[in-house]
Amino acid sequence: MALFAVFQTTFLLALLSLRTYESEVLSEPLPLTPESLKVSVNSTCQCLHLQWTVHSLAYHQELKMVFQIQISRFKTSNVIWVGNYSTTVKRNQVLHWSWESELPLECAAHFIRMRSMVDDARIPKPGFWSNWSSWEEADAQNMLGHDPLFVFPKDKLVEEGSNVTICYVSRIHQDNISCYLEGVQIYGEQLDRSVSAFELKNVSFIREKGTNVFCKVDQGGVLGGIVLFVSKVLEEPKDFSCETQDLKTLTCTWDPGSDTGLTKQPSQSYTLFESFSGKKTLCKHRNWCDWQVAQDSQETFNFTLLAENYLRKRSVSILFNLTQRVHPMTPYNLLPKNVGATKATMTWKVHSIGNNSTLLCQLELLAEGKVIQQSNVSIKVNGEYLLSELEPDTEYVARVRCAYTNHFWKWSELISQKFNTAEAAPSEAPDVWRNLKLVSGHPTVSLFWKPLSKVHANGKILFYNVIVENLDKPSRFEVLSIPAPASSTELTLDQCSYQIHVTAHNSVGPSPASVIVVSGDPGNEEAEKGRVNGTEDGFSVSWKPQSGDATGYVVEWCDGPQDLPCVLQWKNLGPNTTSTVIRSGAFRPGVRYNFRIYGISTRRMAHLLEKKAGYLEELAPSDNPQVVMSKLTSHSFTLSWKDYSTESQPGFIQGYHVYLKPKAGEQCHPAFEKTVLPEDSVCCKYTIDNPEQKTFVVENLQPESVYEFIVTPYTSVGEGPLDAFTKVTTLDEYSHTLVHIILPMIFCILIVMIICYLKSQWLKEKCYPDSPNPYKSSVLSLIKSKENPHLTIMYVNDCVPDAIEVINKPEGSKIQFLGTRKSPTETEFTKPAYLYLLPTEKNYSGPGPCICFENFTYNQAASDFASCGHFPVTPQAPPHQLGPLTSPENLLKALEQNYMNSLGEIPAGEANLNYVSQLASPTSGDKDSLPTNPPEPALCSEYKMQTAIPLGLASAPPSENSSLSSTTLLGQGEHCR
Ligand SMILES: *[C@@H]1O[C@H](CO)[C@@H](O)[C@H](O)[C@H]1NC(C)=O
Ligand SMILES: *[C@@H]1O[C@H](CO)[C@@H](O)[C@H](O)[C@H]1NC(C)=O
Ligand SMILES: *[C@@H]1O[C@H](CO)[C@@H](O)[C@H](O)[C@H]1NC(C)=O
Repeated sequence: MALFAVFQTTFLLALLSLRTYESEVLSEPLPLTPESLKVSVNSTCQCLHLQWTVHSLAYHQELKMVFQIQISRFKTSNVIWVGNYSTTVKRNQVLHWSWESELPLECAAHFIRMRSMVDDARIPKPGFWSNWSSWEEADAQNMLGHDPLFVFPKDKLVEEGSNVTICYVSRIHQDNISCYLEGVQIYGEQLDRSVSAFELKNVSFIREKGTNVFCKVDQGGVLGGIVLFVSKVLEEPKDFSCETQDLKTLTCTWDPGSDTGLTKQPSQSYTLFESFSGKKTLCKHRNWCDWQVAQDSQETFNFTLLAENYLRKRSVSILFNLTQRVHPMTPYNLLPKNVGATKATMTWKVHSIGNNSTLLCQLELLAEGKVIQQSNVSIKVNGEYLLSELEPDTEYVARVRCAYTNHFWKWSELISQKFNTAEAAPSEAPDVWRNLKLVSGHPTVSLFWKPLSKVHANGKILFYNVIVENLDKPSRFEVLSIPAPASSTELTLDQCSYQIHVTAHNSVGPSPASVIVVSGDPGNEEAEKGRVNGTEDGFSVSWKPQSGDATGYVVEWCDGPQDLPCVLQWKNLGPNTTSTVIRSGAFRPGVRYNFRIYGISTRRMAHLLEKKAGYLEELAPSDNPQVVMSKLTSHSFTLSWKDYSTESQPGFIQGYHVYLKPKAGEQCHPAFEKTVLPEDSVCCKYTIDNPEQKTFVVENLQPESVYEFIVTPYTSVGEGPLDAFTKVTTLDEYSHTLVHIILPMIFCILIVMIICYLKSQWLKEKCYPDSPNPYKSSVLSLIKSKENPHLTIMYVNDCVPDAIEVINKPEGSKIQFLGTRKSPTETEFTKPAYLYLLPTEKNYSGPGPCICFENFTYNQAASDFASCGHFPVTPQAPPHQLGPLTSPENLLKALEQNYMNSLGEIPAGEANLNYVSQLASPTSGDKDSLPTNPPEPALCSEYKMQTAIPLGLASAPPSENSSLSSTTLLGQGEHCR
């Protein structure tokens, strides 16, 4: 090998010698191996800096050479880069070359060697490489301290979007080291036992203070880190331009783009360079720079703006002529002068540019933000312009801007000035309308007027003058002054006709007068009625033209719904108009509006022509009528909704729908139409197409069935809500019969029963009274009617006696009874002896039919009891006369005394004889008290004794006791019974 190398060198030298001879310049062979190779490390730029010489170059001639450089990492055999470097070499020249490493140089030792080859056209080919120089080591690790963990590169500045390699060197030889970029772990490649590298691709700007990268040993808390400064990419300045206001100073401006400033790197700087003068200035501001124009009147300028930071430079150039970049300064002192109602003069000043230069100024006049006039004026220093055709009492804005006349580049900034024109008298008569009505019997006219528009008012309206002139009595005037902003007044008039003038006044004077004529008699305001259609625009109202003398028309309406107070609105129209569109922001859908159309006569009087009603948009009714159900039967019922007002609905009511939900399975009656409700139930619908028909009879129903109905009005748009159906149950079929037949029948039966009852009383009274009344007894009347109809007394002579009773009066037993009040059955009394005149039935157990007759001639009081002789005829002493009844003698005495007194008057009464007839039976009332074993037919065979009874005794009340006594006593034969 060495032999071959020696041979090769020998051959090369021989060849070079040959060539040297051929050329005068290169006459000697060249020893070309690079020598004195030195390698240094620059950490800032991560560069390996090489320097060497080629000593063996002969003479002082230049020779083109190629150097091949090899770079190894960690060890010489690990070549990571090979490259050529061509340059021209002189004898003993020190050559320099740098290589930038992606991996920070602190992380690995690098080894470099090189060889060379002559690559000069004067040397005949083929060239050959020299020997390699020996390896040179560049190891920055020696410079590190003794920390356990290092991360590189330190404080590196890179541009956004670049790739950066990070590495760490560990002195503790542990595997478990992890690295983080802004807290996010990153993964790299282990290059050596103690070195790892991480490639960060496309790094982005995070903050001016830099991006943090750190590595740590998982156990032990050993930490190492770096800050990576990522700068934004420097942008080229945009919109670079220069201009001057006075031809002395140029101001250049540009848009710098984003700032690249970092803690590690200041913001980019801007330098202005002018190529013709060769001058240069460092700009103090990021986006503008002043440049003083030299006195020698340089006209053309070539400016270059250079932007630079540590990483990059950017530049932009412009070339211009100074006079074409004049941007005049803003004019000043813009003022109005001599301002009138329609005219004003504006004056202003400008800054002069150079000597004798002129400016073109543009004066604009604005009203309500819009430009209404524009004029151009050429001036040197002072500007003046007369504005005319202005409106009185109007606010205007005047504004001025100027440009350099020689060459237009830009308008100056604007200067504005507000001013107001003066007032003038109003130019139009107010629009006046009236409304006539009677207020407590007096014709009253309400006058309304609209405020004059700004265009016509020409100033602030202060008051309105109303002059009322009586046409029937000329020279009668009344003047009213109504302060603004009133827009109506009321006048009370009499039956005369009046002409009313209304004028509006401002500080300058009055407007023309508006004249209307009203008659005190409101008259008959009937007119044709019609409908009007609403559209999106409003209401298109049209009317029949008035033949003859109409000088105009007025359409009048209220702006609100009918139930609100009327805000009277009107619209004046010319004489040839027969239609108009009424618009109002107040119109709402579903509200009925009424319009009245008046014609104005030549006498300026208004006559009502037509009335119209309409909806802007008809809506479906929102409510259903309150329906009253009546006349319910088993097959029908009647619905009525008389209270429903069709006027106040949100549309013209065209009729009603009657919905009836039939029983399940029942068909709709043919007059009804089958329809399906929104909730899918089937319903029968009947349509009433007359809005004024507000009753309906639902017929042909099933008895005793539940039906549901609803009545809903409909307009052209739709019908009312179908929500609340009303339930109704038809009556039972028989309840109808019940009402009509059974109830009357019951009534009749009741009446018959009452009649029967009454009749039975009468019959009983007539035929078998409890106590026969001789006066009333029909039997007797039958007997006696022929002879004497009025007298019903039976005479003893007329009777045929059938038995005679002889009474033996047992005095003692009677007294005993009275004293002890024992039951008669317990009392032993003497059985009377009877003489039977007529045969009797032996088995007769109860009292037989009998009538007892008394001679009431002697006992008037007894007849009043309406019963026959139920009073006790037992002689009784008045209570005051009764002593203690324990002694029978006392009582007997008192009785005897009474008897004597009363009997004394009637001597005939001494005989105790009773007449008994068998025709009447005792009344049931006495049955209970009767002895269970009455003395057989004795009762009916009794003849009443005709004795004179003292009134005091006879009038004793017929109490139970007395009745008992009476019955008992009867058994003793003392009384009729
Ligand atoms: C290292 O490189 C930087 C930038 O390339 C340079 O400014 C600096 O002077 C160099 N340092 C040395 C010691 O050569
Ligand atoms: C960064 O690396 C990616 C992928 O390796 C490459 O495409 C890109 O060009 C690199 N960027 C720079 C600025 O070198
Ligand atoms: C203006 O200046 C720039 C920078 O010096 C130069 O490159 C360019 O050619 C110049 N342009 C003219 C028209 O002179």
